[in-house]
Amino acid sequence: MLQIGPHILPNPYILAPMAGVSERPFRVIAFRLGAALCPTELVSSQGLMHANQRTLKYLRFDPQVERPYSLQIFGGDPEAMARAAVIGKEYGAQIIDINMGCPVKKVTKNGAGSALLCEPTRAAEIVRRIHAATGLPVTCKIRSGWDDKSRNYLQLAGELFEAGCAALAIHPRTREQGYSGKADWRVIADLKRHFPDRPIIGNGDVKTPADAHRMRETTGCDFVMVGRAALGNPWIFRELAGGYPPTPEERCEGVLAHFREHVAFVGDGLGAVRSFRRHMAWYAHGLHGAAAFRAEVNALDTPEAVEAAVRRFFVSASVDLAGPSEEQEVDYRAALG
Ligand SMILES: Cc1cc2nc3c(=O)[nH]c(=O)nc-3n(C[C@H](O)[C@H](O)[C@H](O)COP(=O)(O)O)c2cc1C
Repeated sequence: MLQIGPHILPNPYILAPMAGVSERPFRVIAFRLGAALCPTELVSSQGLMHANQRTLKYLRFDPQVERPYSLQIFGGDPEAMARAAVIGKEYGAQIIDINMGCPVKKVTKNGAGSALLCEPTRAAEIVRRIHAATGLPVTCKIRSGWDDKSRNYLQLAGELFEAGCAALAIHPRTREQGYSGKADWRVIADLKRHFPDRPIIGNGDVKTPADAHRMRETTGCDFVMVGRAALGNPWIFRELAGGYPPTPEERCEGVLAHFREHVAFVGDGLGAVRSFRRHMAWYAHGLHGAAAFRAEVNALDTPEAVEAAVRRFFVSASVDLAGPSEEQEVDYRAALG
């Protein structure tokens, strides 16, 4: 069942919402390489309601490519969430996704993100109110529970579906786990078994196309959501469709295209150069000479200098078969879902 509300998707592969990553430039790249859906990173319902200029910037999308456009919002108050969703719809959102997984205290202390795992009735009320106010399909992204003693995903899913949730994404770790341990795919299988007629989006620890296929086969989930494995490697969506990994030239052109879009999106050169450094580290991850390249790029502060460095490095960069060094491992502690 490759359908979310009225939207029939071309394949089962979805880019995970990732703060600081799933901005318009990266979403467009992922869509073009074959992702069926790319929800935005989490956007504050309070920021939307107060027409906060910074928040509204996150709503920019490419209507030619991003179809359907799924907007992820967070908040704890059903009324405020419904009002925010209406504003999102006015800006073009076709699906409203509700963040019920974010573990960050700043978010949970206001009853939002993973705090909603503890209050299924309020979580369901948010779905109901948003659907009633917008008429749009509403999706939710949850974890398996708050902690090991309260893995209430079945009860929560039941209430969310009852309230009209059109598809449910599950990252099967508890809030307490953060990103430690392994995502427990048995939770995804359990959800699908209990709700066979509802679209279930499996997520967590898909590192390769083979993992994605295995997740579908072993859990029966309808969709697979890929997060960290797409960082610096949006080509994974092409591979998932049976295509090939990028050639060095393609990678080089891809990084340049992303960087230029990022500069245009951010609007100021130095800010864009700085905020692109993490993408650059991800793109270089696993290639020969990545550490030296990172050090070089981190010292540059104009888009022109960065472009020149990208050309020099990526055009001939080959995969380091010895694997990335410890020092190149990426830190996800601040991740938001
Ligand atoms: C840098 C980063 C930012 C994230 N931001 C969000 C977010 O804004 N909203 C959300 O629902 N999940 C967020 N997540 C969680 C991911 O969507 C996903 O659930 C998680 O990374 C597990 O999938 P993976 O193993 O494929 O990475 C974030 C994860 C990372 C790594």
